[in-house]
Amino acid sequence: MKNIQIIYENTKKMTQKGKVASYIPALAEADSTAFSVSLMSMDDKIELGDCTKTFTLQSVVKVLSFMVAAHHHGIEEIMRYVDVEPTGDSFNSIVRLESNNNKPFNPMINAGAITIASLLPGQSMFDKVKSVTSFIEKILNKQVSVNNEVYMSEYHSADYNRAIAYILQANGFLKSDVEEALQVYLQLCSISVNSSDLAKIALYLATNGQNCEAACSKNVINIAKALMMTCGMYNFSGKFAAFVGLPAKSGVSGAIIAVVKDGEIEHLKGPIGIGLYGPAIDDVGNSVAGIDFLAKLSKQYDLFCL
Ligand code: DON
Repeated sequence: MKNIQIIYENTKKMTQKGKVASYIPALAEADSTAFSVSLMSMDDKIELGDCTKTFTLQSVVKVLSFMVAAHHHGIEEIMRYVDVEPTGDSFNSIVRLESNNNKPFNPMINAGAITIASLLPGQSMFDKVKSVTSFIEKILNKQVSVNNEVYMSEYHSADYNRAIAYILQANGFLKSDVEEALQVYLQLCSISVNSSDLAKIALYLATNGQNCEAACSKNVINIAKALMMTCGMYNFSGKFAAFVGLPAKSGVSGAIIAVVKDGEIEHLKGPIGIGLYGPAIDDVGNSVAGIDFLAKLSKQYDLFCL
């Protein structure tokens, strides 16, 4: 058995240590024992588990919506609305909305992502969502859709996010009205993908956008990866940077993307994108098996990028 398969088999048992997200009813239906990993280089891939099983992007989409908004407006304009500083707080925390001149700290927490949703190109909720789905479709070379059941379930349990959006609006950090920003944000969280799709998205970042037609400047992609490294794994980001050492972003569905700029994993060489799905998550919101797999992988294949 290959080393990577041994890591996968050992890590799969870790799914027992987490719980599927239950604060959004539709996410609570996930199979807590599921675990899949896709690793993609420019010309080959390794897949472990069922990499065709679909789930929603959740907070992984925050990287993509940031890139679309920053590519459209330029980073200087974006930074008038959202900072690039880590918080160490949970993703939906409201405590810092009264500091930093009330500016949301970064686009990877809900406050920043709701502001980014309001800044997306387009005059309507539909156009703003489309700006991100079109970008994803170019990366994946296939159509993607919003899982309406998850979206409705999110929308009807969005009190916290709505409260955040009202504070942002009161402080002048929303470019659309509250309901539109919220609907765009929650629809983006509800986009369906599988682990292979996640690996392709991560490979796009690893190659600085060189592997397909989707347009985003290298500068914006670099900032997106810096945000992933400093704020991508919720309030576990510091430990993940210290002990795994890869730019990564997780979502409460159990999705994670991780970027290897230049590595060698079995027969894969060069830039490698990694997509993982393990819906059993820890208290912070990260896939338990996903974190364990990436920690072991980074150690075994010397992937620490700093
Ligand atoms: O805002 C929410 O509740 C979710 N739809 C986003 C979830 C997520 O993955 C956590 N965010 N950083």
